[in-house]
Amino acid sequence: MAKEISYAKVVVDKNYVISEIDKRIYGSFIEHLGRAVYGGIYEPGHPTADENGFRKDVLELVKELQVPIVRYPGGNMVSAYNWEDGVGPRENRPRRLELAWRVIETNEMGTNEFMNWSKLANTEVMMAINLGTRGIDAARNFIEYCNHPGGTYWSDLRREHGYEEPHCIKTWCLGNEMDGPWQVGHKTADEYGRLAAETAKALRLVDPNIELVSCGSSNSDMPTFPEWEATTLDHTYEHVDYISLHQYYGNRDNDTANYLAKSLDMDDFIKTVISTCDYIKAKKRSKKTIHLSFDEWNVWFHSNEQDKQIDPWTVAPPQLEDIYTFEDALLVGSMLNTMLKHSDRVKIACMAQLVNVIAPIMTENGGGAWKQTIFYPYYYSSVYGRGVALNPIVTSPKYDSKDFTDVPYLDTSVVYNEEKEELVIFAVNRHLENELHVDVDIRSFEGFEVVEHVVLENEDAKAKNTLGKEQVKPHSNGQSYKEAGKVIGILPKFSWNMIRLQKKIINS
Ligand code: AHR
Repeated sequence: MAKEISYAKVVVDKNYVISEIDKRIYGSFIEHLGRAVYGGIYEPGHPTADENGFRKDVLELVKELQVPIVRYPGGNMVSAYNWEDGVGPRENRPRRLELAWRVIETNEMGTNEFMNWSKLANTEVMMAINLGTRGIDAARNFIEYCNHPGGTYWSDLRREHGYEEPHCIKTWCLGNEMDGPWQVGHKTADEYGRLAAETAKALRLVDPNIELVSCGSSNSDMPTFPEWEATTLDHTYEHVDYISLHQYYGNRDNDTANYLAKSLDMDDFIKTVISTCDYIKAKKRSKKTIHLSFDEWNVWFHSNEQDKQIDPWTVAPPQLEDIYTFEDALLVGSMLNTMLKHSDRVKIACMAQLVNVIAPIMTENGGGAWKQTIFYPYYYSSVYGRGVALNPIVTSPKYDSKDFTDVPYLDTSVVYNEEKEELVIFAVNRHLENELHVDVDIRSFEGFEVVEHVVLENEDAKAKNTLGKEQVKPHSNGQSYKEAGKVIGILPKFSWNMIRLQKKIINS
C-alpha cells in the first residue's frame, strides 16, 4: 500500500519570542517513595556505589539528562515528615511509619545526604516543607538549619553534623497538594492560604533570598479547581513567587488518538491557572506577576493495579513502577512542548519522578540501570531546549477524538539558542497512519542548515524498554532538508522528532 502523506505549515521568526526559557523547566523530583531513594539513588553495597552509598550508574544517567533542579523529599510523604528525623548521626535516626505510602521510612537518607547527592548530580534542590502535620515553627527551624550561616541553635546543629557552610537552598515549596483529601493534614483553601502566607513570612524573615511556591490544585479534575487557586492566592499573593500545578495522564481506555491529545488538556489547565493568578493580581491592584511551577507532571497509570498488591509497612517496596511504552514517550514529548509554549509563565517544572517511581530511569536492586522510553524526549528537550522559546505559527490538519475536537496532527515547539546559533524544532506527529510533511518557513534564520534530525518511532504503540533491551530508542536518520528559506520536515507517522539547525560557517 502506498504511503499516505499529510501536509502542515509552520512559520518561525526570530522576532516571535515567547520568553527566555528558565532552565528549571527541565526539573525533576525525588520523593521518599518506593525505590526512588533506597535502591534508586542510594544503595550502599551496590557494585557502583561510591563512599556515600550513591549509585554511580544512576548518577551518570541523571547527569546525562542535565536536570537543573530536583524537588525533594515529597510529594505526599512530606505532609507527615519530621525533617529532624533525617539529620545527625545515622545510628540515632528513627524508623518511622510513613503514612502517605504506608511503608517504613528508615531515615538513612535525609536533607544533608540529599544535598551531597545534588552536588554530584550537578543539580539544584527545590525543598518541600511539611504543612500537613506541622507548621510555622518546624518550617522556620528547618530553614534556619539549612540556610543560616551559624551562631544559632539550628545552624550550629548543622555545623555539628558536619556541614560548616549553609546549604543556601533557594526554592521552597509550601507543602504538597494540600487540597487533596488523601493528604495527611488536608486543609480547606482558607486554612491553607492563611498557613502558607504566615509560613512564607517567617521563612523570608530567616532568609530574604528565597523563592516560594504555594500549593495549587492536585490536578485539574479536582472539584475545588480553580476556586482553590483563587482563594489561596487571595491570602498568599504578596508572599509567594509561584503557584504549583500537578497533572498525570494515562491511556486507561486504550484509545491512542485520544491519549496523544491529552497535552491539550494540560494547555487548558495552564491557561486557567494563569487567568486565575491574573484575576487575583487585578483584584489586589498588584504590580506583581505570579509564575507557575508545574512541579509534578508525567504519565502515571501502568502500575496502579500492581500497587494494590503491595503489603504495607515494608522498606522501599517497588511502588509506582510504571514501565512506559512508546506512545507514552510521545505524550511526554507533547507535554514538554506545551510547557515550552508557556515558558513566559511556567518557570519551573518537575518530571515526576526521576528514578524507579514513575521515572525515566529504572534500576534493579544490586543490578543495572536503564532508560525508559520517556527518557528520550526529556533528554533532548533538556539538552537542546535551552535559549528562547519562539512562537511557531502552525497550520495543520486536525482530528477529533473521544474527549477533544480539532486536535492538530502536528504538535511543535521551537527553541532558538542565540549563543550557539542553533534553532531546534521539537515535533510530534500525532497521525497514527500518515507521514507528515511540514513546510517550516525560517526566512529570518539565514544561513541555518539542518545538522541533525532525531526520530523516535516504533510500529508498536506498546513497545517498552527493559534492562538490556531497548526496543524504543531514537535514531538520527530523519529525512528533513533545507530548501530556499524553508526546512521541509518529514515526520514519520506516529513519531517524536527533533530537527536541529545551526548557522553554517562560511569560510572566506
Ligand atoms: O508523584 C507521586 C505522587 O503524586 C506525589 O507524592 C503526590 O504529590 C502526587 O499525588
